[in-house]
Amino acid sequence: MPTAIITGASTGLGRALASDLSAGGWRLVVDARTATELYDAAAPWPRATDIPGDVTSEDHRVELVAAAGDRLDLLVLNASSLGQAPLPPLAEYRLDELRAVLETNTVAPLRLVQLALPALRAAAGAVLAISSDAAVEGYPGWGGYGASKAALEQLVRVLAAEEPGLRAYSVDPGDLRTRMHAAAYPGEDISDRPEPETAVPALRRLIDGGLPSGRYAARDLLAEAGT
Ligand SMILES: NC(=O)c1ccc[n+]([C@@H]2O[C@H](COP(=O)([O-])OP(=O)(O)OC[C@H]3O[C@@H](n4cnc5c(N)ncnc54)[C@H](OP(=O)(O)O)[C@@H]3O)[C@@H](O)[C@H]2O)c1
Repeated sequence: MPTAIITGASTGLGRALASDLSAGGWRLVVDARTATELYDAAAPWPRATDIPGDVTSEDHRVELVAAAGDRLDLLVLNASSLGQAPLPPLAEYRLDELRAVLETNTVAPLRLVQLALPALRAAAGAVLAISSDAAVEGYPGWGGYGASKAALEQLVRVLAAEEPGLRAYSVDPGDLRTRMHAAAYPGEDISDRPEPETAVPALRRLIDGGLPSGRYAARDLLAEAGT
């Protein structure tokens, strides 16, 4: 039975992917900071270990990786911080806020990879980092979050070169109707954005398929699959 760690699985894209993998027979180790939401989300997943906590905590990261055991097929780096909202221009970006965004979106994912590497190597597993188009585009207001995702993508690129026995992906899931997206566009109607479930088949192409390590966009993967 394949095993995955998915951070930020209580809602949004993480929850949608966890539901899909659980239905496919995967064993899951999942987290989120809000325990009640995590327990509710994980209740229908029969082989899930739910561990509430913050990915910026070293104790929590160690606990997550230990719960996965000696073999880990998939590490999904999904939990993420938007940072200051409403999104400020760089001229007004608070440096303490930038450090916090980098800690959650870049430092914590690298540390999870470091801790999980022995188990990932044992399973010839995959690392899937959820990124964003803000990593490569210069959208006003998205400088802090975008920089953290750009750095995350570069870590994944180098990881792929250093660990040829693994697959290492970063993926832009596209705009999705989630809590984070609503926070980025306060007061805006985001009901035209697709549900997070719509991006899951693209993530499954990376998880299940033999695609080489690299950066992917969900819309391209979905178009290639004709979905
Ligand atoms: N939605 C979009 O349009 C969009 C576009 C591009 C990329 N993305 C990326 O897609 C991924 C999922 O985002 P989403 O839109 O699904 O967000 P979401 O609905 O806000 O879900 C975020 C999840 O991560 C958890 N989380 C946040 N900070 C955490 C932390 N420090 N430690 C542990 N868990 C934490 C949240 O639970 P708690 O708050 O309880 O911790 C929640 O389970 C993120 O990497 C995001 O950057 C989203």
